[in-house]
Amino acid sequence: MDISSILQGGYQHPLSRSWQSRRQLTKSMFMYPIFITDDPDASVVIPTLPGQRRWGVNKLEGFLGPLVQKGLSSVILFGVPLNCKKDFRGTPADDENGPVIQAIKKLRSLFPSLYIACDVCLCEYTSHGHCGLLHSDGTINTEPSVERIAEVALSYAIAGAHCVAPSDMMDGRIKAIKRKLIDAGFGNKCTLMSYSAKFASGLYGPFRDAAGSAPSFGNRKCYQLPPTAKGLARRAIQQRDTAEGADIIMVKPALPYLDIIADAAQLASDHPIACYQVSGEFAMVHAGAAAGVYDLKAMAFETTESMVRAGATLILSYFTPEFLDWLST
Ligand code: PBG
Ligand code: ZN
Repeated sequence: MDISSILQGGYQHPLSRSWQSRRQLTKSMFMYPIFITDDPDASVVIPTLPGQRRWGVNKLEGFLGPLVQKGLSSVILFGVPLNCKKDFRGTPADDENGPVIQAIKKLRSLFPSLYIACDVCLCEYTSHGHCGLLHSDGTINTEPSVERIAEVALSYAIAGAHCVAPSDMMDGRIKAIKRKLIDAGFGNKCTLMSYSAKFASGLYGPFRDAAGSAPSFGNRKCYQLPPTAKGLARRAIQQRDTAEGADIIMVKPALPYLDIIADAAQLASDHPIACYQVSGEFAMVHAGAAAGVYDLKAMAFETTESMVRAGATLILSYFTPEFLDWLST
């Protein structure tokens, strides 16, 4: 055999196998998505998202305290308003007494070292369930959408969020949010993480159940990207969101879009690259394990390690609590 054909000597030991990766998974790479509802004492199981619940603000200490002890470093908050009056412009999104703003303040005081990101979107708060404001014919009205989304982002920053993360995919919202943050004195106090390459995926179903954010008519294909659209994803990452001032670029979903994560790592090589292992991906890993197709832990590692290999530096995942047990650093 040729000398160049012999590879196995290089990875015969667990330690030498670990050296084969450019970067390793670490606890600080994981950001945990949390659903906060407007009943302060809620702890309600979400049937389609194994192990996840909707939490009320009064339950956050008991829920997150042990995870922070184990090394949880960041969370991303999603509001689930169940008792408010939704309207055309998503008024409850930045209600001072709403679940997200209350949770930001509570978490800042309970856990001073915890990094708090907030998803910014209107779909949970609009009567029609779309992520922006609409024209009378039901199409997206971009300008007021972007203005409203920026207003909500600023409210979260003022409440104490370390990071705001718009997931709506409206053109121009990164620039509008960045401008508003700067003008209000938050340019150096709040990170702007863009869901840049967010695809119109079949993998958001459990999330929409959890957050009550399914659109009441139509779909999101006019703002979320077509799954085949590599070119649009590259333009959204580089020409749009990086140029408009995003501090972190995100790709979502993650596993079916590893090529886009690799593209993002190359196009935005000076930015952190995030990816979101979304609700349906998480549910798929669980379902396969429950069906005996594979071992849950092994597949949780294989999927997230593939994201790191593709170039992700930050992973939003419902597996975060498990990884705090599985990883030593
Ligand atoms: C809201 C939003 C969604 C997700 C994050 N923010 C749903 C959607 O766009 O339909 C999906 C997250 C997940 O599935 O875990 N715009
Ligand atoms: Zn939305």
